Amino acid sequence: MINFFRNKALKGSELLFKKNRYYLAKGLVNDELLSYVQDSWKGYDKYPFDSIFVKKQGIHKENSKWKEEFETIEFGAAPFGTILLTRLQKEIEKIINIKLIPTYNYSRKYFRNSVLYAHRDRPSCEISATICIDQDTDNKKPWPIWLKNDKNYANQTYAGAYEISQKLDEDIRKKSGCKKILMEPGDVLIYQGINVLHWRDQLEGNFSKNVFIHYVNKNGPLFKDHPELAWDGRKSAYSDYDADFKNYKLVQDLNEKSENNPDWLKSRACKGISKID
Ligand SMILES: [Fe+2]
Repeated sequence: MINFFRNKALKGSELLFKKNRYYLAKGLVNDELLSYVQDSWKGYDKYPFDSIFVKKQGIHKENSKWKEEFETIEFGAAPFGTILLTRLQKEIEKIINIKLIPTYNYSRKYFRNSVLYAHRDRPSCEISATICIDQDTDNKKPWPIWLKNDKNYANQTYAGAYEISQKLDEDIRKKSGCKKILMEPGDVLIYQGINVLHWRDQLEGNFSKNVFIHYVNKNGPLFKDHPELAWDGRKSAYSDYDADFKNYKLVQDLNEKSENNPDWLKSRACKGISKID
C-alpha cells in the first residue's frame, strides 16, 4: 500500500494527484496557446467548417431530475485538440510525475440545458484532462464539473453512478465525498478518468467549449499488457479510426471487456499510483 504522507519527496501536485485522483492545474494552457485554440474553434463554428462537428441530441437518464431537450456538437481528433494532447503531455508528466502515452483527444461544445451524466471513462482514459476553452453562462461564472473521488469507482456501472452521486443534492454530495470544480478558460483538470466519477449538472448558459485529452500510464499494467492503447488503436494522433488497422479491434475488445468485467479494469487502472479500493 502506498503511504502518501511518509513519502516527503513527492511534490505538492504529484502528492495531490495520487491522493485525490485529480489535480486542477490553473492556467496551464498559456494565453498564446489558449487564444490559438479559441480562435481556431471559432473558425470551426462557421460554414463550411462547422460541418465537421457531429451534432448529438442529448439523452436524459430515465430517472433524471432534468427533462429539457439539449444538444451538443462533437469533434474527435480536432486539430486544435491534437495540439493540446501533444503539447501538454510533458507539462502533465511533470505535474503528476508519471510518464504518459497519448491516446486521443475529443472536443465538445455543450449548449443550453446540456447535462453530462455521472460516469467513469474507458481504458484509453486512464489519465485524462478536461480543458476549459470558452464559456458563456447566464451568471458569468464557470459551469461546474463534479467529481466523486473518495474511492476507486472503476467498477461502478453507468446505471448506478447517477444514484450515488449526481442524483444527490449539493450539500449531501459534498458530505459524501464529491468535489465541485470551477474552471476558467486555460484551466486543466487532470484526473484518473477510469477511477473517478465525473459529471456536470444542467447548463444554465448559451455554451461551454471543452477539449478532453487522454493518456495511459506508460509504466502501468494497462499499457504494458495492451500496447494497442497507444493512439487509442489508431495509426497516429492525426488518424481516424480504421477497422482494418490491427490495433482497432484490440481496443474495441478492451472496451467491451471493461464493461463486462469492470473488476478487471479496477485492478489495473492507475495501479501503483493510487489505492485500488
Ligand atoms: Fe468522461
